[in-house]
Amino acid sequence: MRQSNIRPFGAMPDGAPVEEITLAGAGITAAIITYGGAVRSLTVPDRTGAPTDVVLGFDTLEDYRVQDKYIGAIVGRCANRIAGGRFSLNGREYPLFVNNGPNHLHGGQVGFDRQVWTVEELRENEAVLRLVSPDGQEGYPGRLEVRVTYTLEEKSLSIFYEARSDADTVCSLTNHSYFNLSGQGRGDVLDHRIQLCAQYYTPADRQSIPTGQLAPVEGTPMDLRQPVQIGARIGGDFPQLLWAGGYDHNWAVDGQPGQLRPAGRAAAPDTGIAMEVETTMPGIQFYTGNFLAGCPAGKGGARYENRSGFALETQFYPDAVHHPGFPSPVLRAGERYAHRTVYRFGLD
Ligand code: BGC
Repeated sequence: MRQSNIRPFGAMPDGAPVEEITLAGAGITAAIITYGGAVRSLTVPDRTGAPTDVVLGFDTLEDYRVQDKYIGAIVGRCANRIAGGRFSLNGREYPLFVNNGPNHLHGGQVGFDRQVWTVEELRENEAVLRLVSPDGQEGYPGRLEVRVTYTLEEKSLSIFYEARSDADTVCSLTNHSYFNLSGQGRGDVLDHRIQLCAQYYTPADRQSIPTGQLAPVEGTPMDLRQPVQIGARIGGDFPQLLWAGGYDHNWAVDGQPGQLRPAGRAAAPDTGIAMEVETTMPGIQFYTGNFLAGCPAGKGGARYENRSGFALETQFYPDAVHHPGFPSPVLRAGERYAHRTVYRFGLD
């Protein structure tokens, strides 16, 4: 398959080529690299019609390989944290790679964000990427075959995740794009408004491991059911926000998991760009880039600091494998994992 919308983007140390795909839909373009399946740019018009790149990213493969912020990447086999870096399934204990204090984060040392995906299908507005994660990778049981389809439609990016394993395993896939709706590299996102369609969130301990409770947002700074400026309460003395250095929590998206339903919305006052998120997943992590500082210069020399972008990561709840009360992230042998998340752009 050789098409005009795919070009070399560098090579891995073992010589494996990395490519970049450009996709175009009505009023939206995207660049996707096969390293981590990462969204490298996403361009939509602002209120004057000027094309605005709303995601953080880098100019070179080397920069992607050096950073450890999961910028733009597909995260798996299990997004977010697994407490103690181990879980048991069918009476067997599976130790995982521990990479976040005593815990496992975002699939481990060489998660899906650090692997080179294969381009399986390519059209002008759509790319299908494929990855095979062998049995035992990062400690997970089962050979997992994953397909991720990126589709651009009318000012929207849809990400469809499919997976199948030959043994029971744990699977929760997300995309870790950092958005800045003022345009990447244009300062912080504290003036953006955020709204999450969630009556409950999962409070966490100081290591961001959920306690297992589903707590009502009502009466707390976690109540984002009405639009709130990101900066308005982020520095308050609410312990959850203090411990995480800002928002870095999972909200239980209202409605029925498995059904595509509204999960959140964000908007920037200067460009007027608004983004709505819909998902079939049970939860969404709203993360305000609290640990973003310290990566290489971004696209066009942009400086990325804490709060230069925010992420809305649709997922099973963090550490769900240890909480029987949470929707289960266990994928049974031969079963099909299929989830969709849509990022839809417009003007405020
Ligand atoms: C997590 C943060 C973590 C970050 C890594 C986010 O999804 O919620 O706690 O530091 O990923 O860049």
